[in-house]
Amino acid sequence: MSRKKLLMGNWKMNLTIAEANAFCEDVKAASLVRQARQRGIMIGVAPAFIALQSVRKHAHGLIVASQDCHYADHGAYTSNVSIPMLQEIGVDWSIIGHSERRQYEGETSFTCNRKIKALVKQQFHVIYCVGETAKEYDQGLTKDVIREQVVTGLMGLSKDDMQYLVIAYEPVWSIGTGKNASVEIAEDIASFIRSLINELFGKVASQKTLILYGGSVKPNNIHEYMLQPDVDGALVGGASLKSESFKELLENI
Ligand code: PGA
Repeated sequence: MSRKKLLMGNWKMNLTIAEANAFCEDVKAASLVRQARQRGIMIGVAPAFIALQSVRKHAHGLIVASQDCHYADHGAYTSNVSIPMLQEIGVDWSIIGHSERRQYEGETSFTCNRKIKALVKQQFHVIYCVGETAKEYDQGLTKDVIREQVVTGLMGLSKDDMQYLVIAYEPVWSIGTGKNASVEIAEDIASFIRSLINELFGKVASQKTLILYGGSVKPNNIHEYMLQPDVDGALVGGASLKSESFKELLENI
């Protein structure tokens, strides 16, 4: 089955509103969305919460995702942003479970699961991030970790819900380190994730779900990942911050 490709920039805590707007104008001037569409590639960015509304206005066809959200619609959750708040500004994609949230903000696969269930109920597209730490990798625990993250994160979802899910495999040791995982590792784990989805939700869902690789993806290495049968795109941090580099990523897919 042929699946679309997805190039997603995760801006993390970078780009002010003005910088984000300038990025969007560059993307528009270079007609990147049109070029991507012609090649069957979806492209998007995940700005900081404060820049979301403005980027949404200037997106010109770019997918706009939040980097997180809360599972409750409203309430006493200081500093959090809810799904209805995102809906109000026209955002319907969200990254969930990024390793930096797991590492620094106490995010667990259980909290991810609550968020994912709330999001798919509102027909949001979810990019659910999974990945092992360097220590877990060294101990040979990668697949155990991924299994727990996938099984717990997707608990209680139906086959139908899976149409909203994208899974991003991002080994923690490769994020922001310049040590990108080999294509063999990326493909091995992407195909493992696909087999888990098959186990949990059946063949159709497993064949349809997009699986991304993330971790030190750059314009000069993105292409090799895209040649792997189970890797359907990339979640890119550092190399997605400048429009010129984002354009090169797209060109090299
Ligand atoms: P990086 O980050 O491309 O800067 O390694 C990837 C990510 O965290 O999604």
